[in-house]
Amino acid sequence: PLIRLEDYRPSDFLIDRVDLHVRLHPTATRIIAILAMRPNPAGDTAASLHLDGDELTLVALDLDGEPLAPEAYAATPAGLTLMRPPRRPFVLRIETEVDPSANTKLMGLYRSSAVYCTQCEADGFRRITYFLDRPDVLSVYTTRIEADRDEAPVLLGNGNPVEAGALGAGRHYAVWHDPHPKPAYLFALVAGRLGHVAKPFTTMEGRAVTLAVYVEPGKEARAAYALDAVERAMRWDETAFGRAYDLDVFNVVAVSDFNMGAMENKGLNIFNDKYVLASPETATDADYAAIEAIIAHEYFHNWSGNRVTCRDWFQLCLKEGLTVFRDQEFSSDMRSRPVHRIAEVRALRARQFPEDEGPLRHPVRPAAYAEINNFYTATVYEKGAEIVRMLRTLLGPAVFRAGMNRYFADNDGRAATVEDFLAAFATESGRDLTAFARWYERPGTPRLSVETVYDVGAQSCTLTLRQSLDGDGPPLVIPVALGLVGASGPLDATCPQVEDDVFVLDGESATLRFDGVAEQPVPSLLRGFSAPVRLDISLGDADRLILLRHDTDPFNRWQAAQGIAMRLLLDGAGSSEAATAFGVALGAFLDAEGLADPAFAALVLGLPSESEVANEMAGGVDPDAIHRARTDLRRSLGRTLRGRLETLDAALGADLAAYSPDAASAGRRALRNAALDLMATADPARGAIRAGERLDTATNMTDRLAALSVLAQLPGADREAGFDAFGRRFAEEPLVLDKWFAIQATIPEDGTLARIEALRRHPAFAMTNPNRVRALIGSLAFGNPTQFARADGAGFALVGETVEALDRTNPQLAAKLLTAFGPWKKWETNRAAAAAEILNRIKAIPGLSRDVADIAARVADRR
Ligand code: ARG
Ligand code: ZN
Repeated sequence: PLIRLEDYRPSDFLIDRVDLHVRLHPTATRIIAILAMRPNPAGDTAASLHLDGDELTLVALDLDGEPLAPEAYAATPAGLTLMRPPRRPFVLRIETEVDPSANTKLMGLYRSSAVYCTQCEADGFRRITYFLDRPDVLSVYTTRIEADRDEAPVLLGNGNPVEAGALGAGRHYAVWHDPHPKPAYLFALVAGRLGHVAKPFTTMEGRAVTLAVYVEPGKEARAAYALDAVERAMRWDETAFGRAYDLDVFNVVAVSDFNMGAMENKGLNIFNDKYVLASPETATDADYAAIEAIIAHEYFHNWSGNRVTCRDWFQLCLKEGLTVFRDQEFSSDMRSRPVHRIAEVRALRARQFPEDEGPLRHPVRPAAYAEINNFYTATVYEKGAEIVRMLRTLLGPAVFRAGMNRYFADNDGRAATVEDFLAAFATESGRDLTAFARWYERPGTPRLSVETVYDVGAQSCTLTLRQSLDGDGPPLVIPVALGLVGASGPLDATCPQVEDDVFVLDGESATLRFDGVAEQPVPSLLRGFSAPVRLDISLGDADRLILLRHDTDPFNRWQAAQGIAMRLLLDGAGSSEAATAFGVALGAFLDAEGLADPAFAALVLGLPSESEVANEMAGGVDPDAIHRARTDLRRSLGRTLRGRLETLDAALGADLAAYSPDAASAGRRALRNAALDLMATADPARGAIRAGERLDTATNMTDRLAALSVLAQLPGADREAGFDAFGRRFAEEPLVLDKWFAIQATIPEDGTLARIEALRRHPAFAMTNPNRVRALIGSLAFGNPTQFARADGAGFALVGETVEALDRTNPQLAAKLLTAFGPWKKWETNRAAAAAEILNRIKAIPGLSRDVADIAARVADRR
């Protein structure tokens, strides 16, 4: 049963006010919902009233103070229908009971390590009470939370705290009021024993706000970085987008069982603790960066998502793509913009491109879905962000900012659509954005092919650009940032169709003529990755080395090195002369600027991942061959660069005194650890000793984990001793053990599946905890191509069994794991057949959840 965008109809009823009374109990929580309702003038006035429910038990129901006659309504766990609802405003009082301890789906109200919390997006509120659980029904909420003071001394809700006090029998209560109308998916409450850190903040409008981060008692110190990130995000949104915060408090809570990263509930963001807790001893530089980005992301939703919300779930990219774009801009301003851009594009190519080119492909704004929770995808989020970025490139920063202001002003307090978003920019720019809007509708990654002809006599260069995308449809609007580079530096050539170094390709093809080109140029195209497309251009290694040396665009400098490495890997030429030549060129690069920008240098030195290589292949993927080629190339580079890597290691090690998570320090650690990895591949015996030493002496998790990862590649007693020591040292630190699980699950060796089986029985592992499952089983499925896609099918089987087991307890998590089978048709035939067998087995399981059934059907059937 598909839900379709074209079937959208406004709700027949509205809910203006919601008064919730929640009496918390570990297994029998009572919820009284008092709903002030009225018929929607825009709806069908003769309709019955159907409220959504999911696994609910109705305890009592009355209308305007009178109990309803049994024949006037029908209640099931999945819904409540009033046959003849009033045609005037009325008040419905609904009492339900739920069992938070038995809620293993982690949707609705559940308990995580004795803390009550909620997750309502996309449709979890209907697991708390019967409701019009759709994002275009906006209500003002008052929430009264009651609990045992011993069990839950802290009671948090949306909005502002208005009242709190003691009740008899050790109970107490708190009342929260949120003046901003919101859809039910933004509702939240938290109750439990929690510590916190807090600081005051004054908005640009002069509002005094208390910012706080709540964590497990005893972990307060580890919340300091997140709290600091909240403050920086709030200030940044004021400056960058003119957006101020709008309540008296802003609370963030970390919980340890959470299906996703975090959730932007109004005034009460709830986080996976992995994206809150950090200390130098337990978190890596990457963790700090992720915390900063996700804290910002959820905070930015306060405007892009909450103040302006979505009309329906087809518009998910309206809040997610936009908010990812906003958090990317924030991180770029906090850190190195080019380095961050490269990281964004790597993530897009690694996760979104395969999605866009495989059986799970869908438009950024899907037209139909069976299960909306399966559409929180890289396409909606990351490609959605690229569309916003292209819009800014097309309109320029000033008009873009004005368009954003107009979008917020025109849609404040409303549930909006992609059309509303584009209309704001069309109005501000006076441009017709109809053709641009196709980016939201057309799935797939377009190809942009470019041919270059240089005419010495005329001193001119012609570029022919052509776009293609399978499936019918008119061309897309592709902003191509570009320039020409010569053997000793950028060339100053002119072309009338290029404005501010950007050409906008809005037809199938175009020819650009540059004049005043004094030498054979190398075109630098798609600078800054100006559009989410695949670029087909035949450049030789010599051309690419010119770009690496002389391009003014850091992204394309990095891309040039990646391009050479990718070709070597695709050709299986990791130990060729060409590989040696590449190493020599990288050596020159490192000598010239390795120490000037270590973070960038680390990226240039980093090779495409095995999955990235597989993504470049049309079919017949053999993960073992890719792994061998990549190991060969790493070994070759390690040998060619040996002297330099030693020098870098010494130079970068010298100034690493006290740990600081800032981007510059992180960059030095990244380059030093990249050097360690290459040295160890080239000389495993010395590498094992060096990594073992670093494992013992590291003063922070970044270096310790880097050492462990290097050791993990080197079979032997040292490695096992290293794992053992690490496991014991962090036995009481679940988030650190996740890293330990993950590294072991990604070892590219035959013994890994047995190791995973053993780790599944480790006392710290639990199938009920999503972070543990993602660390151990998710790392196999998404991070270990040779062992997941084993020719004997054993990797598929292990992941398949996990999907089957989780389907009964946590279908959302199960469905995510199953998406690892997405590329199965690209694997060579034995592997593809083994994967198909597991997929079919899963499809045949009786009583499969909608989440898993939807992914299984889509992965198995199409394309
Ligand atoms: N809105 C949240 C965020 O991106 C994610 C919610 C994910 N929900 C889901 N059902 N998968 O910030
Ligand atoms: Zn989001």
